[in-house]
Amino acid sequence: MRTCYNCPLSEIKGPGASSLIHSVTAPRNESEPVAKSSQPCKPGLSAVIAGTGFDVPTRVMTNAELEKLVNTSDQWIVERTGMKERRIVADGQNASDLALAAAQRAMDEAKTNPEEIDLIIVGTVTGDMLFPSTACVLQHKLGATNAAAMDVSAGCTGFIYALDTARQFIATGTYRTILVVGVEVLSRITDWTDRGTCVLLGDGAGAAIVKATAENGRGIIAGLLGADGSRGPDLYQPAGGTQIPATIESVKQRLHYLRMNGNAIFKVAVRSMARTVKRLIDAARITADDVKLIIPHQANLRIIEAMAKLIRFPMERVFVNIQKYANTSSATTIIALDEARKTGRIVAGDFVILVAFGAGLTWGGVVIRW
Ligand code: ACO
Repeated sequence: MRTCYNCPLSEIKGPGASSLIHSVTAPRNESEPVAKSSQPCKPGLSAVIAGTGFDVPTRVMTNAELEKLVNTSDQWIVERTGMKERRIVADGQNASDLALAAAQRAMDEAKTNPEEIDLIIVGTVTGDMLFPSTACVLQHKLGATNAAAMDVSAGCTGFIYALDTARQFIATGTYRTILVVGVEVLSRITDWTDRGTCVLLGDGAGAAIVKATAENGRGIIAGLLGADGSRGPDLYQPAGGTQIPATIESVKQRLHYLRMNGNAIFKVAVRSMARTVKRLIDAARITADDVKLIIPHQANLRIIEAMAKLIRFPMERVFVNIQKYANTSSATTIIALDEARKTGRIVAGDFVILVAFGAGLTWGGVVIRW
């Protein structure tokens, strides 16, 4: 047996309390998590990214500001995480607003009208509401009246899960144009009195238009998704679901804020991302030397550096923008992909790997031939 969900039973009594999970079984073998890597798309039906875009709030929160909120320092945050500032939404600004702006930029680049979109998939754990999905809210705001819409909850791996799901719909010929979004408003589930988490998080959104093409050898050529639900208690939001609905007591106990066992996650993050990259390279039938750029989840610069060291991949070919936006969960990889493309780090023909890990715990990645 290992960690439990921080035993909220001891903190709260009320509806649902009797069904709380107290303990979970240890993973069978953490070094060999179960994951299936999918092979390149069927000939004739490839999924290409036709446009990307991102949006972050204008309000910048620096490490100096955090020094005034909790017992921390700019030096500690920079040395331990690589983060210098993050963006925070304004009052009244929601996940769907950031998603809308990011989506419009991706659609502009892809020259795609709202009516052409067949499906909207939003990776998020901080959507506008529990339901309807943020994808449905976005569908309405865009006027994408022909699109089906759904959210994907995979923590920080949300965008990767959404992107690989989009690829499947394209490969089967079900849809031709899919809007994939990663968006988070983590500031609204952040405990601003907890220095162990509040210094790490930020708000933002990124979007990609994924299209079907008959051109072989381009686009998302391999994908891999994995999960280990036994590690859920390492990163979770105790209340707000049906297990612990919102009550005065749950709010007083601060159960609606994100909780994290940072040390435990650090190790899984390094190992799962390193293993995912290796398996993706095999699945795509390429070598590490062929990979122009790895775009990892931006959770901690030390995690990124440790992953690169483990797979002996040079940091010069690993994209990092954590200093500007901190950890925006589902949004980090797509924000980074858009920045990498628009600063000339990716050109036609390049192999690029997106890789992430997150709450669940989950992990995953894709290989894209640009
Ligand atoms: N400022 C100053 N000191 C701090 C802070 C802070 N913000 N936070 C923790 N400390 C202290 C600790 O109390 C501890 O003090 P002690 O030695 O006196 O006990 C010391 O710093 C070291 O603490 P550690 O937790 O060992 O620090 P570590 O180097 O592991 O860094 C961190 C902590 C940054 C959380 C790291 O473990 C990490 O990045 N983990 C992964 C986080 C992550 O990726 N989360 C997943 C994504 S989050 C999401 O999904 C939204």
